Amino acid sequence: MIENHHTITVNTESNGYNILIGNGILNDIHKFIDPFNHGQKWVIITHRNIWNLYGKELSSTLIINQIAPTVIFVDEGENSKSLKTAASIYSQLIQLGCDRSSYLLAFGGGVIGDLTGFIAATFMRGMPYIQIPTSLLAMVDSSVGGKTAVNISEGKNLVGVFYQPQMVLIDPQLLKSLPQREIYSAIAEIIKTASIYDHSFFNILSSIITSYNETGDVSLFTEAIFESCKIKSEVVSQDEKESGIRKILNFGHTVGHALETTLGHGNIRHGEAVAYGMLCAGFISNKYGTACGLSQNLSENNWQALQNLIHLLPLPDIKIIDTDQIIQIIRHDKKNMGDIRNFILLEEPGKPVISSLVSEEIIKISLEKV
Ligand SMILES: NC(=O)c1ccc[n+]([C@@H]2O[C@H](COP(=O)([O-])OP(=O)(O)OC[C@H]3O[C@@H](n4cnc5c(N)ncnc54)[C@H](O)[C@@H]3O)[C@@H](O)[C@H]2O)c1
Ligand SMILES: [Zn+2]
Repeated sequence: MIENHHTITVNTESNGYNILIGNGILNDIHKFIDPFNHGQKWVIITHRNIWNLYGKELSSTLIINQIAPTVIFVDEGENSKSLKTAASIYSQLIQLGCDRSSYLLAFGGGVIGDLTGFIAATFMRGMPYIQIPTSLLAMVDSSVGGKTAVNISEGKNLVGVFYQPQMVLIDPQLLKSLPQREIYSAIAEIIKTASIYDHSFFNILSSIITSYNETGDVSLFTEAIFESCKIKSEVVSQDEKESGIRKILNFGHTVGHALETTLGHGNIRHGEAVAYGMLCAGFISNKYGTACGLSQNLSENNWQALQNLIHLLPLPDIKIIDTDQIIQIIRHDKKNMGDIRNFILLEEPGKPVISSLVSEEIIKISLEKV
């Protein structure tokens, strides 16, 4: 039974929905799904390994609502976020007799969430979907905000739609089986969210991470997931389609994205690259803040605190990177995430500034220092 759960309401222009967070919520999902169930078809999109771990639990709660969903398996990894996989799933949905009233359940990490959201947005011009994220990254980042996408050969997430789910159900207990590297990588995104929005959340994060390092207890993340989702949903509610304030969520991503491209997604996790990106952005904010348009440089104390927090994470060694290559990638990155004209700096934790004055030279210096 759920002792308690937190609810966050996300209000975007296109849709309002709830994010529910509670330890053990998976076993009680029928209660939350009930209002959405009208006897329509339900299809779960997941990976086989996740289904082997939690499929029985999910099925046995859904059966209470008389829901006997069809399960569609996709292979693990970024390659599944493709038009090819989407096309194959559209065909399966047709064969199953699905229509616009059918529901999709995304049961997995960010790959499953982004792919399922994209299919839901496009199948018959849009069908509803619910997110049940299973990775920490999906819990704190990808399941909130309605960005859905698939990859094409020219790059990641280049084909997609903003399309909000009907509900997001988060059970931190699912993280028990998540490999630790995935956990640490996602913590970097939590640090990012805290850095740009909330000084007090920033301050309590170090004790959460330290306790997790000592105990490995995943319920320690419940509060951090709640705070991250709350912040992300507040930002997204103000700017659903990233024309303004939502850009602050890209703190650490200009350099991070270029590092990921240079080193290869198999060699560095997204969050690890963002962690280095935040160190660069922190360094620039501390040493060159006012030159880049900040009203004050990030103070020594705050810069030290940011470094201390990030260094609680085990990060891969990137000493051998070619800084010229990183600059090249940043220069040619047309996506907002890597756009040098929208470089996110910090005046202090909770006070981000979108700067167009960060030069390639300064980025290079920051890369050599961190
Ligand atoms: N939509 C957005 O706003 C947004 C934001 C950030 C990232 N993303 C996308 O998210 C994706 C990355 O997501 P991710 O880091 O969750 O990767 P992922 O979905 O590939 O999951 C990582 C690995 O963990 C496994 N896994 C997931 N949950 C598990 C569990 N509970 N127990 C055991 N294993 C588990 C998966 O099978 C996979 O092998 C990328 O495609 C990225 O582009 C989207
Ligand atoms: Zn990210």
